[in-house]
Amino acid sequence: MSQVHVINHPMIQHKLTIMRKKETGSKDFRELLKEIALLMGYEVTRDLPLMDVEIETPICKMTAKTVAGRKLAIVPILRAGMGMVDGLLTLVPVAKVGHIGLYRNEQTHDPVVYFCKLPEDIHDRLVIVTDPMLATGGSACDALAMLKERGCQNIRLMCLVGAPEGVARVQREHPDVDIYVAAIDERLNENAYIVPGLGDAGDRIFGTK
Ligand code: PRP
Ligand code: URA
Repeated sequence: MSQVHVINHPMIQHKLTIMRKKETGSKDFRELLKEIALLMGYEVTRDLPLMDVEIETPICKMTAKTVAGRKLAIVPILRAGMGMVDGLLTLVPVAKVGHIGLYRNEQTHDPVVYFCKLPEDIHDRLVIVTDPMLATGGSACDALAMLKERGCQNIRLMCLVGAPEGVARVQREHPDVDIYVAAIDERLNENAYIVPGLGDAGDRIFGTK
């Protein structure tokens, strides 16, 4: 069974509260999402293996640490997942970025794929999938399945807010994928929106409604 990491650092909770407020505009919403993604990135990458390298400081030679082997890829689920990419790239500037485009059918709430472009060597990388909202879990599960079809074996899912239903579905369908969230909210409403949530993340990031 995958692990669910709820990253409840005070600064993340504080920033998330501002994002949830309905009066917060797109500019602030985007900036806060980027900042939270960077902060969450510390936890998502916490167990990356290190190796020794010999370097020379202006004073003397030393054995120092550097991240070993595991190359990273960040894969946002379009559109809203894009809002978490820059924060993670600030932390890991050499990561490659793939894109998976999915939107939810408004009636069935099932995800529909419209785009997929991934780094050629994605199967060799630790993949961090980003999407602020984990509602029914349909979009995340489809994205994870697409990555596994391409041979990915090390995948982590990084979201901002999860619903219990979505978290349970990812755990059921992808028990090998650890989930990182800043909060798990109460439930889904009749339109499969997270309650209390923060509304439609894509629309709030891009100002489309
Ligand atoms: C939102 C969100 C997730 C998905 C979550 O995307 O960004 O991708 O819904 O819902 P689920 O867990 O029930 O699948 P949306 O379909 O609204 O597309 P957008 O990001 O382009 O606005
Ligand atoms: N997508 C969103 O953007 N918000 C929700 O609450 C559910 C799905």
